[in-house]
Amino acid sequence: MPHARTGAAIAAALLLLTSPLAADGSGDPAAVSSSQGEYSDKQGNPTFKIEKDGTVDWYTSVGYLRYTANCMQCHGPGGLGSSFAPSLVEALKTLSYSQFLDTVTNGKKNVSASQDLVMPAFGVNPNVMCYIDAIFIYLRARSDGALGRERPENVAPKPDGYSAAENACMG
Ligand code: HEC
Repeated sequence: MPHARTGAAIAAALLLLTSPLAADGSGDPAAVSSSQGEYSDKQGNPTFKIEKDGTVDWYTSVGYLRYTANCMQCHGPGGLGSSFAPSLVEALKTLSYSQFLDTVTNGKKNVSASQDLVMPAFGVNPNVMCYIDAIFIYLRARSDGALGRERPENVAPKPDGYSAAENACMG
């Protein structure tokens, strides 16, 4: 739906302009709906849901594991960055969900005489792409200051249908 996407992008831009407290490029992270255990914010972007007792939603927990397996070697524990790659805790303060998807799918390069920064393209890697929303959700929670850098201790139960969808994606 191109119109909805454009609308969401404009809304996100307006939100950034009008609200200096907006925590990230996707706007207010409050969860307003869910589908099969994956929460969405009011713009329809994937988001986290963390209860007062610290229990995290299933996707946040999966995102922690997948981030750690596929991204941490460059972007550092908890997304804090390293000498190889920038902090994603910082990046997600301004990056939208669609920009995030684009970069992870297609990669990004910043190569010059003084630096050699290459973000690999993961578009054909099911270990990343089947979990891309979970990774975004985890990093969004980190960027928003809602989650520490340790492995989440208490996790909501696995949603019905999650395993079937996961198996279908992994093929
Ligand atoms: C081999 C090292 C490496 C791995 C592994 C890696 N990245 Fe990156 N990533 C980079 C580098 C380097 C950059 C900066 C590229 C640039 O500045 O052009 C980057 C940039 C990014 C950006 C853009 C940040 C911005 O400010 O625009 C995102 C988003 C990102 N990576 C997400 C991920 C995710 C998610 C994973 C795991 C699925 C991952 N990266 C795995 C090296 C890596």
